[in-house]
Amino acid sequence: MLRIVVCVSGGGTNLQAILDSIDNGTITHAEVAAVISNNPNAYALQRAERHGIPGACISPKQFEDRESFNEAFLQKVNSYQPDLVVLAGFLVVIPEIMIQKYRNRIINIHPSLIPSFCGTGYYGLKVHEGALARGVKVTGATVHFVDEGTDTGPIILQHPVAVAPGDTPKILQQRVMEQAEWKILPQAIDMIANGKVTVENGKVIIKET
Ligand code: GRF
Repeated sequence: MLRIVVCVSGGGTNLQAILDSIDNGTITHAEVAAVISNNPNAYALQRAERHGIPGACISPKQFEDRESFNEAFLQKVNSYQPDLVVLAGFLVVIPEIMIQKYRNRIINIHPSLIPSFCGTGYYGLKVHEGALARGVKVTGATVHFVDEGTDTGPIILQHPVAVAPGDTPKILQQRVMEQAEWKILPQAIDMIANGKVTVENGKVIIKET
């Protein structure tokens, strides 16, 4: 059974997709052990509570300096003994000490087709503003392992989404969530939970069976 800790900052629609997928069997051999948020008001924490999943709130704002937060955050994650850490709309930089301890065991959902519209400054609506400003006809979402860079780790899954005439950032964000994020994040977790994903020479190999 793959033990998962999900890190969130906002509405938690990606968390909900994971919970629903476990309930309906889209994800097998996995369980969410806890949900951690940096934002005490994150609706994602209410989603966890409704599902009977322990929630915790830990934020850099609670600490004198970043190093103290980083150590406390890692201890909090370790306390749940996860096999996999899922960043689902989590807006805090993951400490290097955590990336080293959980090498290729932290995944993130990003709302674009990496390497487009990613990296520092590209998060939430800003990603979709960038795609619309560039005039791309196709965007999408990416699930990737987290490494020391920003949105630079090995790519696990991607799914394309068409940009429609008249799209606003909000309309496009919703379509990318519905058509891509809420599908490929559960799919990636199920593949990992069933031993289908390995990383070789920095590239993801997916066992087809
Ligand atoms: C979404 O745009 C997602 O792509 C990004 O964070 C935003 C909020 O996600 N990772 P959620 O509703 O909190 O899951």
